[in-house]
Amino acid sequence: MKDHLNRQINYMRISVTDRCNLGCFYCRPPGDTCFLPPAEILSYDELLRLVRLAIPLGISRFRLTGGEPLLRPGLDEFISRLIQLPGVEDLSLTTNGLLLEENLEKLWAAGLRRINVSLDTLNREKYKAITGSDSLDKVLEAIQRALAVGFNPVKINVVLLKRINEDVSDFIQLAFDWPLHIRFIELMSFAPVDGYFVSAAAVLSRLKQSANWKLVQLPGSGPARYFQLEGMKGSLGFITPYSDHFCHGCNRLRVSASGELRTCLFANRTYDLKQLLRQEADDDKVKAFLLTALREKPSDWQEAMRANPPGVALKEGLRKIGG
Ligand code: 5AD
Repeated sequence: MKDHLNRQINYMRISVTDRCNLGCFYCRPPGDTCFLPPAEILSYDELLRLVRLAIPLGISRFRLTGGEPLLRPGLDEFISRLIQLPGVEDLSLTTNGLLLEENLEKLWAAGLRRINVSLDTLNREKYKAITGSDSLDKVLEAIQRALAVGFNPVKINVVLLKRINEDVSDFIQLAFDWPLHIRFIELMSFAPVDGYFVSAAAVLSRLKQSANWKLVQLPGSGPARYFQLEGMKGSLGFITPYSDHFCHGCNRLRVSASGELRTCLFANRTYDLKQLLRQEADDDKVKAFLLTALREKPSDWQEAMRANPPGVALKEGLRKIGG
């Protein structure tokens, strides 16, 4: 499926729950502990139907996110059903890693091979300050175990935070020692994040200037630009929605746990899939609905923002939108 800008829309990110067992300050505004009742989130059957109907439109790559997806019971069985749908070419999971270790075998047996772990620091005190949880060791153990089980690629998402993790040398060391793909992501302003933004471009140019390191850019598509330093087992990626936006190549749709479809992260506009699915719309109607949404996908984030009511910023963190 190509949209009006000739973008190949082939990637759907599905949030399976808005619940999270971490409280990262940039994702969950203070006091935001109100989770959806189970009846308000799309059932696994509804999600599988949605995937089945999205496939003929050209969506072939999927990612499960949350909240924290491993908090939802039965995720492994859902994954195994999803992977078996003809036309699903790629499936990955984004997790904070807290429940990962005990789920690795089940996820592998279900057919999952790719995992992204959100981890913003390798410093225990900083981890606690960012997330509100003293779980760094647990996450690191899960990452090592995931590599041992054979997951590939294992990627680490690091949201860059001014004064907190701007110095990325410990992550660089991690990519030397382990075949991990570390992706530095620019902070997007949903929740109370004023003052924490630091551009990935700045971090990258600092790295490039550093005398000891010769960065080699790796080929690749997608929002991340990857680099390697000589001798590195893994790689370093930079995701720069602000300093170098990638809307022209955007290939994605997002579905929140509550069944809202978003065609752009910067648009407050959503499409109510849950209502449609629960109205017993027939397959053609659901497909037509998806096509309309695709056709209306904003050209870029500026266009998306212009369509938002004046003064209304993006109100919700990624926990509710779907990470
Ligand atoms: N800006 C950038 N990235 C974010 N994430 C969550 N909130 C933000 C934000 N405001 C990251 C998570 C996760 C990924 C899905 O998005 O850390 O790795």
